Parts: sequence; structure tokens; C-alpha cells
Amino acid sequence: MGKLSIKDLDLKGKRVFVRVDFNVPVKDGKVEDDTRIRAALPTIRYAIERGARVILASHLGRPKGARVEKYSLRPVADYLSELLGRPVAFADDCVGAAARGAVEGLKDGEVLLLENLRFHKEEEKNDDAFARELASLCDLYVNDAFGTAHRAHASTVGITKFMEKSAAGLLMEKELEYLGRALHDPKRPFVAILGGAKVSDKIPVINSLISRRVDRILIGGAMAYTFFKAEGFTVGKSLVEDNMLETARELKRRAGAEGVELVLPTDHQVVDSFDPLHSRKTIPVEFTNIGQVGLDIGKETVALFANEIKDAKTVIWNGPMGVFEEKGFDEGTVGVARAVAEAAERGATVIVGGGDSVAAIHQAGVADKITHISTGGGATLEFLAGDELPGVAALNDK
Ligand code: 3PG
Repeated sequence: MGKLSIKDLDLKGKRVFVRVDFNVPVKDGKVEDDTRIRAALPTIRYAIERGARVILASHLGRPKGARVEKYSLRPVADYLSELLGRPVAFADDCVGAAARGAVEGLKDGEVLLLENLRFHKEEEKNDDAFARELASLCDLYVNDAFGTAHRAHASTVGITKFMEKSAAGLLMEKELEYLGRALHDPKRPFVAILGGAKVSDKIPVINSLISRRVDRILIGGAMAYTFFKAEGFTVGKSLVEDNMLETARELKRRAGAEGVELVLPTDHQVVDSFDPLHSRKTIPVEFTNIGQVGLDIGKETVALFANEIKDAKTVIWNGPMGVFEEKGFDEGTVGVARAVAEAAERGATVIVGGGDSVAAIHQAGVADKITHISTGGGATLEFLAGDELPGVAALNDK
């Protein structure tokens, strides 16, 4: 990576602003999934050990520029303090007197977490005055928030205009290294597995993967129904983007022309729309009737996808295979989680990104087998689509 790294900075005694992505699920004041917090620990520890005064800043949720208590980062400060085994101070605001006072109180090697950046509408507007205020809190800037690097906000982009040095954190570097290698220099066969509800969300990624001549793209989740409908199949009441039918045909044509195999499910779990609770069954996709809704891929498709990645040397997976959040319709996604873990055990580089796919990896108990679990959802997709992430572009070159 050609960007300045935290390892290039002299941190001793400096006020170091570390933009992290602590956008984690918090319910009733409890952190429900700490993956992103743990992923930031190496950078935080690195800065502590070198005597930096560490100022952590993040967003949480989408409070739309207002102070919304359920999106407070205070519970995250307490949680982080337990993980680090040392106090983590908390400032009630990310700018103004509260923030300045808390920063002034920091000694070398101490850690402070600022309140949710998105309590100020200026954050998402990438407002210059707000960015300048954030910058005034620190001497050095480090961006470790890979998950937010696709957003051009005040704390990811604007602030860098006012800093002498802006560097990547250790998590940011690791994410860019794994994803960059998979995209630019993949060992082949290279197989991508994409899921989720919408083809429209995934068009740039599919196009980019076709241009890079990925060997196969396996498509699951509701987005498969847009492809099926485009081919004239009956998809019943399954989720379809009718305005994407021509796009789906075009993607299929492009894939064919570039020698990229597009693999769609062969069977799926359906329910009757008039009796969803008692009518669940697995049927071949072509037998779907007009009253049925497809909610997950079937066992035959899990086996088919497992077979398609058997010889893979690189696998990237983003997006669930069905309505993963509903019990019973998580089987396809968990089945794919097991299949990619087996591919990793056979020596493939396996990269998984996106909330539901990562949750399925944990549910299947195979997280330790995966080469790289990305902390990015949208950021991973935009990176794989070949876009330069604004939060990375804004950092100083080495
Ligand atoms: C994410 O969870 O993808 C990042 O934290 C960015 O959050 P956002 O989609 O609300 O900008």
C-alpha cells in the first residue's frame, strides 16, 4: 500500500486522532457484537505502547445529525476499557468544550473515546469548519475505520486537509492488503459468491469481477430471482427488481463473453404466500408456482456451490443466501459458511465481508478457519467494485 502508515509516525507524547469504526450493534446499553472493536485493538495498543495520547472517534448508527441516546458510544467506551484492561475516558461530545477538556486531561499512553460523530449533521456533510474543529484536537491523524472508508465525511476525509500527517492504521492496512491482493493478483481459480436482496446493490461489483475475469460468480439470495425472471422463469412472489431485468440479462451476456461462469441456485426453500408459517418446503427452482415466495437456497444448491469452490484458490463472499435473520431460512447461508471454511482448510484464501455473511461464519463456528474476515460491508463492496475509497485516497502517500 502506498499510503503512510501509523508505523511511519513518531507517536510519543502526541495527541493522535484515531478514526475507528465502532458502528456495532448495541442493545439496552450492551455491545452485542464486538468484532469491529476487537479488530481495532492492534492499532489502539500500538499507539498506547508508544506513548501516544489516543483520541478515538467513531459513528454509531444513523442518528441523522441529532443527539439520540440509543446511539451513544458510552457503552462502547466501557466495553473497550474491559478489553484493554485499562480506563477509557469518555467525552460527551466530539467537539466543543467537552472534547477539548477531555483531550487536555489525557496523559501519554491514555485513551479517550469521543461521543458519536454523527450527533452533528456536519459530519456526514463533510463540513470544513467541523473538520477543522476535529483537527484542532490532535497533532496526528490515523484512519483505521476501513468499514467507513467509502464515506467522504468530515472525520474520514475533511479532517485530513487540516492535518500535517494522515496515516492508515493497522486494520486499514490489513484490509487493503487482503482485499487488494484478491482483486489484483488472485490465485486461480478465483470464485466470488454474492448474495443479498438486490442486484442493483451489486452491479458495480459484478461488472468489476467480470472485467477481472473471475472464474465463477455464484449468486444466491433474493437477487437470484431477478436473474431467474430475466430468463423467463416463474418466480412467484419472490423479491424481484423488475427495473433490473435487462441489466441482469446484460450481466449474463457480458459474463458469457468474458468466459466467466454465472452459477444460479437449482433448488430453493419456499413458502406459500397465503400460509407462510406452515407451508415451507424445498423445491427445484423451475417448479415454483405463482403463489410461492423463495426465502433461502436449498441443500442441493449448497452442495452445488460447495462443488464450485472445491478447486478454488481464492474465494470472496459477500451477502446472505436467504432471509438469514429468520430462523429456518438461515440454513443456506450457514451451509455456504461451512463450504467456504472447507475451501480455506484446503488452502484457498477465503475473504468474507458483510454483516450477515460474517454472522453466518460465527454461527457455523468456523471463524478461525477463514483467511480474512473483513470489517467492511459497503466499503468491501465498493473496494471490490474497483473504486478508490475516499477515506483511503485522503491519506498521505508514503
Ligand atoms: C457500515 O456499517 O457499513 C459502516 O459503519 C458505515 O455505516 P453507514 O452505512 O451508516 O455509513
